[in-house]
Amino acid sequence: MTDQNNTPSQADDKKKIVVSGIRSTGNLHLGNYYGALSKFLRMQDDYDCRFFIADLHALTTNPDPKQLHESVKNILAEYLAAGLDPEKSTLYVQSDVPEIPEMYLLLNMHVGIGELMRTASFKDKARKALGLTGEGDEIEKEIIGNEKSQARVNAGLLTYPTLMAVDILIHHADFVPVGKDQEQHLELTRRFARRFNSFYGVDYFGEPVNFNFGGEALKVPGLDGSGKMGKSEGNCIYLIDDEKTLRKKVMRAVTDEGPKEPNQKPSQPVENLFTLMELVSEPEVVKHYRDAYADMSIRYGDMKKQLAEDILKVTLPIRERILDIRSNDEYLSKVVRQGAERARAFAADTLKDVREIMGIRKI
Ligand code: TYM
Repeated sequence: MTDQNNTPSQADDKKKIVVSGIRSTGNLHLGNYYGALSKFLRMQDDYDCRFFIADLHALTTNPDPKQLHESVKNILAEYLAAGLDPEKSTLYVQSDVPEIPEMYLLLNMHVGIGELMRTASFKDKARKALGLTGEGDEIEKEIIGNEKSQARVNAGLLTYPTLMAVDILIHHADFVPVGKDQEQHLELTRRFARRFNSFYGVDYFGEPVNFNFGGEALKVPGLDGSGKMGKSEGNCIYLIDDEKTLRKKVMRAVTDEGPKEPNQKPSQPVENLFTLMELVSEPEVVKHYRDAYADMSIRYGDMKKQLAEDILKVTLPIRERILDIRSNDEYLSKVVRQGAERARAFAADTLKDVREIMGIRKI
């Protein structure tokens, strides 16, 4: 039973299931932290949480094999350093659970190429891979018609949402804490679940939803004045950034020439700084700078110094723990071995049912 904010009522004796993952591409940044990881941390006491490192999803952009492996370890160390507790949550690496790729193959039989091609993240990535710049570029024509494009947009990129749906459905998740950019994938997950149920005339999969403690899904902005913080945008503050690097990045953040009249609406780059400040600073600090902007006394240099200071208060203690945990290979491998064992047990049950429902039965 849930209330209007999707908060489970205390009366539920069986804990609701929470699933989420982060791709292993490099290190975690503030977007990952506030959009996802900080929610994981707040949920692990009250829910049955299963958090993983999405290394199969990372393969869709063809990483260097050595770097992929390093990234998996980095993210695991970052999960643990931020406070995920392997005794409370199941922590695992996606590729350690072979039931996932098998169910991905099965679910793909009910997923349309057209709906995958219309997914925003596919269009973005395909456009980048093909070097298309115009909004109206016809990706389909370019992919099918241009011989040279064939391997540049791989099938894994197209079927990315199927794999993500399987990550979620294989656990029968109730909640999937993610940032705003993943909501379309979650919508597809629910659609695939409904389609599976209706095709086979079963009531097997539920419809998982995002979880934001009653608020809106987050989009953490970057430092370059544009939209979201993201690795491929090159505008990130990482949890692992040292003090000097972090201060430098914040001091270089894009702003503008300052307010031209009292109570003016801030430009996008300045609003982005306020958004970051709202995440890391005390409310009275944010108010101080909002007021200073409104009465035109603001000095962006001071605001940035304060912002850097407040970000460091969050990230530096985590950074220290990352450096400590990251060097402990034995501990890292113990955590994921135990996590994979638990995750496989859940996944095997679902896969067995799905095979049975679809008619794959022993002779
Ligand atoms: P990924 O690895 O791109 O991002 C991991 C999480 O961080 C969030 N995030 C942000 N939130 C707010 N503002 C930002 N600037 C920002 N940047 C990233 C993302 O929303 C996400 O929650 N497809 C997923 C990984 C995945 C997954 C899953 C997630 C695979 N299977 C199953 C949940 C459940 C992805 O690429 O996230």
